[in-house]
Amino acid sequence: MRSVRVRLNDNSYDIHIGAGLIKEVGHLLVEHNLRKKAVIITDATIDKLYGDVLEHSLSAWGLKASRQVIPPGEAQKSLQTAGKLYGRLAEVYAERGTPILALGGGVIGDLAGFVAATYMRGVPLVQIPTTLLAQVDSSIGGKVAVDNGRLKNIIGAFYQPKLTVADISLVKSLSNREIGDGMAEVIKYGLIQDNQFFSYLERDLDKIKALDDETLEYIVYRSAEIKARFVEEDEKDTGLRNILNFGHTIGHALETVSDFKMSHGEAVALGMAAAGKISRKLDMLDNSALSRMLQVLNRAGLPTGLPGFDINAIMQAIQHDKKMSQGKLRFILVRSLGNAVISDEVTLDLIKETLLNWNE
Ligand SMILES: NC(=O)c1ccc[n+]([C@@H]2O[C@H](COP(=O)([O-])OP(=O)(O)OC[C@H]3O[C@@H](n4cnc5c(N)ncnc54)[C@H](O)[C@@H]3O)[C@@H](O)[C@H]2O)c1
Repeated sequence: MRSVRVRLNDNSYDIHIGAGLIKEVGHLLVEHNLRKKAVIITDATIDKLYGDVLEHSLSAWGLKASRQVIPPGEAQKSLQTAGKLYGRLAEVYAERGTPILALGGGVIGDLAGFVAATYMRGVPLVQIPTTLLAQVDSSIGGKVAVDNGRLKNIIGAFYQPKLTVADISLVKSLSNREIGDGMAEVIKYGLIQDNQFFSYLERDLDKIKALDDETLEYIVYRSAEIKARFVEEDEKDTGLRNILNFGHTIGHALETVSDFKMSHGEAVALGMAAAGKISRKLDMLDNSALSRMLQVLNRAGLPTGLPGFDINAIMQAIQHDKKMSQGKLRFILVRSLGNAVISDEVTLDLIKETLLNWNE
């Protein structure tokens, strides 16, 4: 097991990472003095796979829990579902000290986190992320939210968990596409912050794809550590934390234009490829670094060739993106592998030219 301490003054907490850790949740709750009857919030798919294991881990330590199971999918990240969950919490007599255990991917983490942040002005939250994306990204940093129609994550809060338990064995039941969603973020961490980690990914990608325990534990650990350091510097996302959006400006636009047929990871991979190409055009990144970057994405099963979308539609979607303020785009570029910068030099024309001449 490895651990990452997220240092946020009174809101500091640990992320524990390892194989089989779901069986230790009961023990960890007792250690953290979270002994009140817990509420597990999860979705039906995850409940079938891991609901019983989690409940047994609690009962082994004399802890009780009620399970609130919702259907899977982004559509559940809504005020309506949050409303239903508040009702169910009241029915099981949840009170101020009742821990909410968010057992799931980013959807459950964001929704259950939002419910934990708001029910009775806040009850203790424990994140138990079950997707690679949630383990390396969405469960870290305290952003919890629900969507409102097409407006994603528009109603939310910053709310840190008391504890996060990332059991890397759980990701073995994910599809390759879902692993790819997480891998796009893992590769992003190497590209923005850590050249050695990037080289590690290049070297051990086959072991990662085989979901080797030791390798998975290391990449989740290093990714969590990198994200945690950004969050510590800029908890409320007012500056430096923007760097974590590397690849996301164009990525979000592609996701929208594909009508969400493209997965988040696929879109972010293309967004990072585009940002790499723009970095090269601005003489920041050399050709060999760009080709190493594209190769790793490819080998991880992520796309690097632009699908035949309408470029004007992509440009429109970029302009609607929230990261565009006062006509200027805060764009993240890479100076070298492992070194990202926030730039305001990137114009919409430059993005368009890059998309139009993708294979240049
Ligand atoms: N809060 C943040 O900082 C942050 C960051 C990035 C993304 N997000 C949010 O995360 C969400 C996407 O998260 P996601 O990619 O984890 O998707 P998800 O939560 O929808 O999970 C994907 C699917 O996998 C299933 N699943 C989950 N764990 C499983 C497992 N171990 N085995 C088999 N199936 C499993 C789920 O039932 C679901 O159908 C989006 O809503 C996004 O907005 C939040």
